[in-house]
Amino acid sequence: MCGIVGYTGPRESLDILIGGLERLEYRGYDSAGVAIVGEDGRLRVRKDQGKLQALKDLVAKDPVNGNFGIAHTRWATHGAPNQVNAHPHTDQTEHIAIVHNGIIENCDALREALRAKGHTFDTETDTEVLSHLIGEYWDGTLEKAVAAALRLVEGAFGVAVISDLDPGKIVGARKGSPLVVGVGDGEYFVASDVAAILQHTNQVIYLADDEMVVITRRGFRTQTIHEIPVSKEIEEITWELSQVEKGGYDHFMLKEIFEQPRCIQNAIRGRLDDDGWKAHIGGLNLTDEELLRHERVVFLACGTSWHAAMIGEYMIEEYCRIPVEVEYASEFRYRNPVIDSKTLVIVISQSGETADTLAAMREAQRRGATALGICNVVGSTIAREADGGMYIHAGPEIGVASTKAFTSQVATLAVFTLHLARLHGLSDEPARSLIHGLRRIPEQMEKILASEPKVADIARHYYHHDNCLYLGRGYNFPVALEGALKLKEISYVHAEGYPAAEMKHGPIALIDENMPVVFICTKDSAYDKIKSNMQEVRARQGRIIAVATEGDTQIQSLADEVLYVPPTVDALVPLLSVLPLQMLSYHVAVLRGCNVDQPRNLAKSVTVE
Ligand code: F6R
Repeated sequence: MCGIVGYTGPRESLDILIGGLERLEYRGYDSAGVAIVGEDGRLRVRKDQGKLQALKDLVAKDPVNGNFGIAHTRWATHGAPNQVNAHPHTDQTEHIAIVHNGIIENCDALREALRAKGHTFDTETDTEVLSHLIGEYWDGTLEKAVAAALRLVEGAFGVAVISDLDPGKIVGARKGSPLVVGVGDGEYFVASDVAAILQHTNQVIYLADDEMVVITRRGFRTQTIHEIPVSKEIEEITWELSQVEKGGYDHFMLKEIFEQPRCIQNAIRGRLDDDGWKAHIGGLNLTDEELLRHERVVFLACGTSWHAAMIGEYMIEEYCRIPVEVEYASEFRYRNPVIDSKTLVIVISQSGETADTLAAMREAQRRGATALGICNVVGSTIAREADGGMYIHAGPEIGVASTKAFTSQVATLAVFTLHLARLHGLSDEPARSLIHGLRRIPEQMEKILASEPKVADIARHYYHHDNCLYLGRGYNFPVALEGALKLKEISYVHAEGYPAAEMKHGPIALIDENMPVVFICTKDSAYDKIKSNMQEVRARQGRIIAVATEGDTQIQSLADEVLYVPPTVDALVPLLSVLPLQMLSYHVAVLRGCNVDQPRNLAKSVTVE
């Protein structure tokens, strides 16, 4: 989604702003721009559609210099992704410039009210309306005008605003769209994502909804949009710069696939107890008695996180024997869900900012449920607003296609399941094998990752196909969904995931020699059944790629290609069986010439409904 960076300090701002935008490229965008107040005291805006290079070419031809400014990468919502609609937008006097993430829901009404006062608009964007509204309230102090305008806004915003009439100052504000303030040495930043400023500082302040910050090179001040002062803690980011760099890999996605063994170590570190075969989790904010009082679990998530939630459902039902439901966050919030104080809601979100997931969590809390968050981004809105939860500790995930966050979510869910299951009376033996299984996952993942050349070879045989079916049963059904999602989002190949036995209820009609079918058929309780599904595909000349358990020689006679994963307990199989599928999607996408890290139309964190 859109990205924001702002800088004020003694240095030349252009390179800092463009550098920050580069770090935000991964979030997905279709145009970019900067607004800088030059040494002559004049506000200048440069913006263009397309990739950042277009903006860099523009500022090379028509430079802008000055030591305070704001910048933006836009992912179009209101109006086409063209130069005119790109941010920053200015007010009617062209003295105020704004960059904005989010959607202003009452922008039509505001536009009409401003038109009645004589304003004319050049763009179709909601952001231009906001810039004019700020201009309308201008009385010499930028934060006053911004606060007055934002009080009239319905919807979501993360904004950064500057004016050449109030020099050296940046006003930032947020509601439903993230904004952090970077505190440097005699210089200050605002950004929608810490990745944009990590190179300069690891000291940050997270704004809450309806809060604003006013920064100058001399310091910062925080208040609400109702102009009530608030004091904020400065927090330290533990992510390192190397984590937001490619580190020798061709793409972030590949780097993140290979980081997974370390991520799993981080997700389970300090959380497993070999003495009592149980888990220790800080941060749930629920006593054992309170946890046990919950009679059912509802997971809320979107996309890949929803797939992880499905695995969580299977785990909790198997080990804790309590009912679990998995809901698409977007559906949940507009139904009339049955939720009460005995429902434990678990919200899964890598970014912690997904608009649908956040809204669904708030709705569940409003109905009396306790909500736990399983997030990656520390300090994200879901992490802060949840009643408790667990971080997955995957480190920054830059590739738009989620890989390491998925496996870290699954590992974290396994830890949580163990904790809850022991409270529900799970015996020592299954608890012990879960712990042993989890501890072995990193080394087993390394082994699978070593088969990357073989996966790349298989990709070369299949990359020209435009369709693909993914089939799995039990714990491997969500893996089939995840494998299909990975392929379609980065290589634009149409892919579907199905429970293998469902194939004969419809998708079997698609099977012929042009339909590769990926079977995730590791040796588990559904193994014999899935072999018959493979026979059914074979009988119709379908081409089969199998993900099977090491040592399974029977599978070779059923499949055209076999990728092996080491054996583990059923509940942990997804942690291994998804790896070959991630690598396969990656190589297919590369062979098809796709932009792996920034697939078309997609955004890393979906902060609009
Ligand atoms: C797929 C992907 C998306 C996200 C989804 C939820 O690779 O990345 O499907 O999983 O947008 O995002 P979070 O987990 O940030 O809430």
